[in-house]
Amino acid sequence: MPDTTTPTSPVVDELEPIYGERAHRRYGLAAINQLMHAVQSGALARAADLPPTLVVAALLHDIGHMVHTLGEHPAAAGIDDRHEDMGARWLARHFGPAVTEPVRLHVAAKRYLCATEPGYFASLSFDSVESLELQGGPMTDTETADFERQRYWRDAVALRRIDEQAKDPNGPLPPFAEFRKDIEQALALSPSR
Ligand SMILES: [Fe+2]
Repeated sequence: MPDTTTPTSPVVDELEPIYGERAHRRYGLAAINQLMHAVQSGALARAADLPPTLVVAALLHDIGHMVHTLGEHPAAAGIDDRHEDMGARWLARHFGPAVTEPVRLHVAAKRYLCATEPGYFASLSFDSVESLELQGGPMTDTETADFERQRYWRDAVALRRIDEQAKDPNGPLPPFAEFRKDIEQALALSPSR
């Protein structure tokens, strides 16, 4: 059970209504909604023993989808919502780069994996393939070299693998409030600059 007695920071008060009220839209074409995708991503990051900053990055990596007004499935209309930039900017009001950078780079990480890992493209879900083209397709050699110069590129790749996996309606689905402690820890480890 989540500990609802511990006082929480303003960011938790801001996040819980977003995920409580705006995260019931379907996640792309998957059989889950945004809230399920978010908590499953956080749960998989925890299960992989990743640090709280990356658990929180996984939990909140698609917040950009929740704070834009482009409708449910903009990729189908040929629109790249740039949710990774929007999400990273939103999160930067509270968190530092250990949280915001993997979020900002998680779409680039998909393009990177498609370019560098044989078989990765074939493993993508339909909606990931659909959005890939709008996002620029697999990276070129120059782009992969640039990507590997980003300080948080490995974290972004770890987050992207979780992102692709966290679409299972039968997978773990903890309540959002169970991540309060991770959020508090991430705020302490990587505060906004
Ligand atoms: Fe995602």
